[in-house]
Amino acid sequence: MPPPSELLPEWYDMQGLILSAYDRLPESAYLLFRIAPGREMDAQHWMRENLLPHVTPVEKSARRAGDVTLNIAFTFTGLDKFAALSGQRPVGFSAAFSEGIDGNEHRCRILGDVDGADSTTWRWGGHPHPVDVLVMVFAPDAARLGQWIAAIDGSFGSIGVRRAIVGVNRRDMKLPGSPEGREHFGFVDGVSQPMLAGTDAAERFPESRHLTALGEFVLGYPNAADITPQVPLLTRCASFGRNGSYLVLRQLEQDYAGFWKYFHQQAQGDASLGEHLAEKVIGRRLDGKPLVPMTGPTDNEFGFAEDAHGYGCPMGSHIRRANPRDSFDDTNEPAKAAISANIHRLLRRGRPYGAPYWKDPTAAERGLVFVCLNASIEQQFEFIQQNWVNSAEFLGVAGECDPLIGTRGVTGGRRNCFTIPALPLPARIDTLPSFVRVRGGEYFFLPGLAALEELAG
Ligand code: HEM
Repeated sequence: MPPPSELLPEWYDMQGLILSAYDRLPESAYLLFRIAPGREMDAQHWMRENLLPHVTPVEKSARRAGDVTLNIAFTFTGLDKFAALSGQRPVGFSAAFSEGIDGNEHRCRILGDVDGADSTTWRWGGHPHPVDVLVMVFAPDAARLGQWIAAIDGSFGSIGVRRAIVGVNRRDMKLPGSPEGREHFGFVDGVSQPMLAGTDAAERFPESRHLTALGEFVLGYPNAADITPQVPLLTRCASFGRNGSYLVLRQLEQDYAGFWKYFHQQAQGDASLGEHLAEKVIGRRLDGKPLVPMTGPTDNEFGFAEDAHGYGCPMGSHIRRANPRDSFDDTNEPAKAAISANIHRLLRRGRPYGAPYWKDPTAAERGLVFVCLNASIEQQFEFIQQNWVNSAEFLGVAGECDPLIGTRGVTGGRRNCFTIPALPLPARIDTLPSFVRVRGGEYFFLPGLAALEELAG
């Protein structure tokens, strides 16, 4: 058991993204930098002078909601380059992070980055297009976002190369008369998130099924098993990993026109049936309401015990595979407290990019900058991908995968079935293509503020 002082969350040392999606800053950009050989010291100077003063910790991020804020993360190669400047080495980082998102064949397979979707087909990330530093910029308006991107690029100059993904303004993702943000297929997104122990929300809802140990997301705190794993370090900085988190970023292109054409065709032109089929794929209605019977429209505390056969929310739907909730509870055992049950949760912090189809159907590309935070890439993001999203055997459903993001190969054709439980007979779609395509991705580490200063010398 760690000493009591270690149990108090050091919010002042954590980057704001851990607790905030910066909802009040609707503009965003994800800048990906690769440092040229021999330019590491210049990069360190750039980070110290131009980036660090604008990174806000958790406790100040709400107050600075009107200002531009930056959050910074590093790939293993990036961390290694900065650590080497002070004669140090990163030690004890997870294998997934150290090897990288396409580090070995097994990893590529469980992520579905195979069959024409491997990292050689991406625009950035992985071994073919390495990245060292990710700078996330959140701004109140497009003008200030533009100024900041220009200033950061200008100060980086010829230190290396960079690529940018600019998020779409969050306000553009709302439909008239509906206040919630949507993803590009038109579904309300960002509804279900873990509730971090130690936050005000957790104190207000101590019985929530989403209550999750802080150590499941932030290093240096007890996890759901009440164990505080050793934090990764730099050779002369033992506390380096404390208050940090692993960050997964995947750029996922979405084919809006293909998605809706397909479901309307399946419904033989019946628009409301087409919508119904797409809702079964996600596991929620377009407006975010749960499909589980007897559940209120804004209730996110539901379990799947009430829908054991999936007549409301299909067993294989996206939300059920991404978070099966009570699906694996053993009814012969006493119920576990939420905090000890939530061992495979993700803090989602992504944003859509590219104009929504309903605003500009001619936009060349649209999609999701999928970002999630977790304390263990292996036990959380990769576990979900391997055992639930891409599993051919899930809750009695065989030979399928997640109908939204599962691996069916670029042209479909693999495990492209989706069963919708219904009485008297289940419905089955057996030609489901992929409407989501990976365009880039990488595993990063989001250090605490003291650790950022250590890197900046
Ligand atoms: C373009 C790709 C994706 C789209 C369009 C999408 C869309 C959605 C939507 C509409 C929801 C329901 C609303 C909500 O709870 O926020 C949802 C939930 C969720 N998604 Fe995704 N998603 C995508 C990719 C992913 C990926 C790659 C993962 C992780 C492997 C993921 C994990 C989750 C989780 C954990 C939930 C919450 C489930 C719950 O707690 O009920 N999603 N997604």
